[in-house]
Amino acid sequence: MSSALPTSPPSAPADGGEAALVIDGATRRFGGLLALSGVSVVLPRGARLAVIGPNGAGKTTLFRVISGEMRVTDGTIRMFGEDVTRVSERGRARRGVARTFQVSNLFPSLTVEENVRIAAQAGSAIPRRFWRRVRPDDVIGDAARAVLHRVGLDRRAADTVADLSHGEQRQLEIAMALVGEPRILLLDEPAAGLSAAERTVLRRILEDLPADLSVLLIEHDMSLALELVDRVLCLDNGVPLAYGTPAEIRANPAVQAVYLGRRE
Ligand SMILES: Nc1ncnc2c1ncn2[C@@H]1O[C@H](COP(=O)(O)OP(=O)(O)O)[C@@H](O)[C@H]1O
Ligand SMILES: [Mg+2]
Repeated sequence: MSSALPTSPPSAPADGGEAALVIDGATRRFGGLLALSGVSVVLPRGARLAVIGPNGAGKTTLFRVISGEMRVTDGTIRMFGEDVTRVSERGRARRGVARTFQVSNLFPSLTVEENVRIAAQAGSAIPRRFWRRVRPDDVIGDAARAVLHRVGLDRRAADTVADLSHGEQRQLEIAMALVGEPRILLLDEPAAGLSAAERTVLRRILEDLPADLSVLLIEHDMSLALELVDRVLCLDNGVPLAYGTPAEIRANPAVQAVYLGRRE
């Protein structure tokens, strides 16, 4: 890939198969405001892309139009070769999209494992008839324990969510997104409000995600974001300002001017 924005996405991406995600000219209007304007991204399978930009740049809106929570006003979104522009949020979840939220989405009075079990049943990419056929409790319990181990919360499984630290709650949110075995994971500011020690834990979790999982990461902490990804998209006022490797983004004068120059 070059550092230039792809104007027409390649039909055969570098990895030889269909890209996980091809966004072509995504535009989202709110009345007179263009929250996204002509954003194009190709995310190969297993790729890691950071989406950066100042507050109000359109980062979360981009995630919403990918997850299907919101439709694009113009443009197309393809997943694994299929046009999903008009597919519902639920339909996109079934195709393997999972998302964590900027605002916590947990059930505080339930245990850690109960939260993951609820996520497994609610948002799974695996067909419901599969759960019915094969002793659902065992399957869901095994899946829940596996993702809790992955995010380092296995010893907290029986504890109430309200008793977790803020960092542990963010780890749990990632476990809940992972339990449906997504193929595309959208992480919206997973490090927000974390201490330095909690960031180190998060960094390790993100580094250890399955290699074939495609990840989009919105993150204000540039040192964290740029170490974890192979490509970066910088948005400014809904417009794609720069696209490239972390090194290219660090050296890009336009990015430095609008983003690095006025850190939030
Ligand atoms: N549902 C909405 N209705 C109206 N305006 C919105 C809505 N969601 C976002 N916006 C506006 O779109 C712009 C981009 O917002 P957002 O995607 O949340 O930015 P970011 O995540 O980069 O901070 C902002 O100006 C925001 O106020
Ligand atoms: Mg946001």
